[in-house]
Amino acid sequence: LTFFHDHTMLIVIMITVLVGYMMSSLFFNTYTNRYLLESQGIEVIWTILPAITLIFIALPSLRLLYLLDEVSDPAITLKTIGHQWYWSYEYSDFINLEFDSYMIPLNELETDGFRLLDVDNRAVLPMNTQIRMLVSAADVLHSWTIPALGVKVDATPGRLNQTSFLINRPGLFFGQCSEICGANHSFMPIVIESVKTKTFIKWVSAMSAA
Ligand code: CUA
Repeated sequence: LTFFHDHTMLIVIMITVLVGYMMSSLFFNTYTNRYLLESQGIEVIWTILPAITLIFIALPSLRLLYLLDEVSDPAITLKTIGHQWYWSYEYSDFINLEFDSYMIPLNELETDGFRLLDVDNRAVLPMNTQIRMLVSAADVLHSWTIPALGVKVDATPGRLNQTSFLINRPGLFFGQCSEICGANHSFMPIVIESVKTKTFIKWVSAMSAA
């Protein structure tokens, strides 16, 4: 992504400098051509050249798009299902590990709580681990979205969508549903708790036993 950004910025800078030079030189030159009314030659050139330039941006962009879509050897899978109006989670790699995750209502919120963002049951995940995310819905369209992880997947009834991510630090990662799904669309937040692998295994065994 960084290389593609630099590559594209270089092209943008070249275009800006070229066009800027041409525009500014129009203010100062005194050359005129009374007979230049149309010119097929220059029009072919200034149509073809930008088209070729765009290809040099489009091809690496598409390559990146499909490379990023690839799920590379995930260690665990987390499945989430959107409901009206909460998320449920299933850790299919472990026996008997599934739960619902509701927003904490305002009247039950602690004074230092995260208003409209925190949930009663957070989805715990190990840090520095490639994670496969499966997303679906039980009733209507929802969208499982966590901006800080760069994840936004539509939850569609009858479809199983897939994405993957790796969290490189511990902490809480907040998200919200981002598909208008009904009256309480604003009140079905997502919380991922990123922890050390050891802590995650402890959590899994505690949850499975319960
Ligand atoms: Cu679920 Cu909006």
